[in-house]
Amino acid sequence: MTNTMPHTILFVDDEIPILKALQRLFRKSKYQILVANSGQEGIKQLKNCSSPISLIVSDQKMPEMSGSQFLEQAKKISPDSFRFLLTGYSDMDAVADAINKGEIHRYFTKPWNDNDLKLQVQQVLKEYDLILENKRLTALTQQQNHQLFKISKILNEKVKNATKILNHKNKELEANLFNMINLFGSLVEIHIPHLKGHGERVSKYAKEIADVMQLSAKEIRNIEIAGLLHDIGKINFTEKLIKNETHKWSGQEKNIYLTHPETGSTMIQFIEQLEDVANLILCHHENLDGSGFPNKLNEDKIPLGSKIIAVADGYDKIFNLKIDADKYVQSYLKKDGYTKDALNDGQLRQQGAILYLKQHAFTWYDPDVVKAFLESLKKQGVYSKNERIVKLEELKEGMILTRHLYTINKRFLLPFNTFLTESYIDKLKAIHMNDPIENIFCQSKKV
Ligand SMILES: [Fe+2]
Repeated sequence: MTNTMPHTILFVDDEIPILKALQRLFRKSKYQILVANSGQEGIKQLKNCSSPISLIVSDQKMPEMSGSQFLEQAKKISPDSFRFLLTGYSDMDAVADAINKGEIHRYFTKPWNDNDLKLQVQQVLKEYDLILENKRLTALTQQQNHQLFKISKILNEKVKNATKILNHKNKELEANLFNMINLFGSLVEIHIPHLKGHGERVSKYAKEIADVMQLSAKEIRNIEIAGLLHDIGKINFTEKLIKNETHKWSGQEKNIYLTHPETGSTMIQFIEQLEDVANLILCHHENLDGSGFPNKLNEDKIPLGSKIIAVADGYDKIFNLKIDADKYVQSYLKKDGYTKDALNDGQLRQQGAILYLKQHAFTWYDPDVVKAFLESLKKQGVYSKNERIVKLEELKEGMILTRHLYTINKRFLLPFNTFLTESYIDKLKAIHMNDPIENIFCQSKKV
């Protein structure tokens, strides 16, 4: 972009005929011409002119103020203007001084050559346009940079706030999903009371194995959820199946039992976040040697998460559900030569369960998973370790119920393992006004 304003040229000379000659020379040009007959007059013009003056042409030899003195002051008033000096040969010392001080851009000796002067004027005015354009672009760039900086600062703030809100929402969504899974899991245990706590314990043991095996956070999360829901397919079990008296089952009932991994997997496979979990549930009764069900998978065809849940499930069945516990306790006592009173019932069942896992490693269970579980058993359980009783007003988002929550009138409110969100806590406080809540067992574990 070039300067669209006509250029203004100021001629300064104490000789009126010279000024008139210069005006004539540029009469047909597109420039606006100003004249002054002294340095003082020239300074007034510079100060009062409404448009910027592109070029100043001054005579050197003037009374009171010489051309170089005038141009020195003109430079201070209008630094962007180009400055020419007209002089006689006798003033060459003054010209050299003015050039050295940077006060003039060109000089012409009188009498000047008209064409040469016109050509030089045209050239410096083009240069003037370029310099002005350059300054304009520099200023524009600086302004844009400043604006960009401001915008990027605002954007940064907005992204920070949005991320904060998103993180909070994600946490809430994750907590809601976790609570939904938990409630879902508790449905089976309501239907089959002797399984009470089984899903939660299998989930806990499986997570501990996965931790020892250093699986990724995503794999551990899926294993935890699959452990909690692994027997969800038992929701349609009849009374006879629930009693677990396998010798009394008909062929059809046995089939229903054998399809519970598929039933459970089908129940949750349509929940997008739980697709991988559905597959872990499907394979939790597969055996390493291919003797399991429902698809008789073996070795590496069985997902590692399912192998882990199988070990946790097998251990809990003997240690806590006491299924076939006596058989393995007797084997343990016989094997190690203990008398029954050497250990308490719990310790005996635990040893029986460990023996059971060891006996079936390499056939049903993956030996690496059994080994990892035995390592994890040396560590104390996370849940009991962190459990504490808190008052309602001490509840904080992120706490997890370690026991079912009831009101003082025995009204059931929430199952254990519920992740407390702000909205849950608000609802509990509202309920507490009419039906007080006491003894809230919690731990501070985060999802
Ligand atoms: Fe099962």
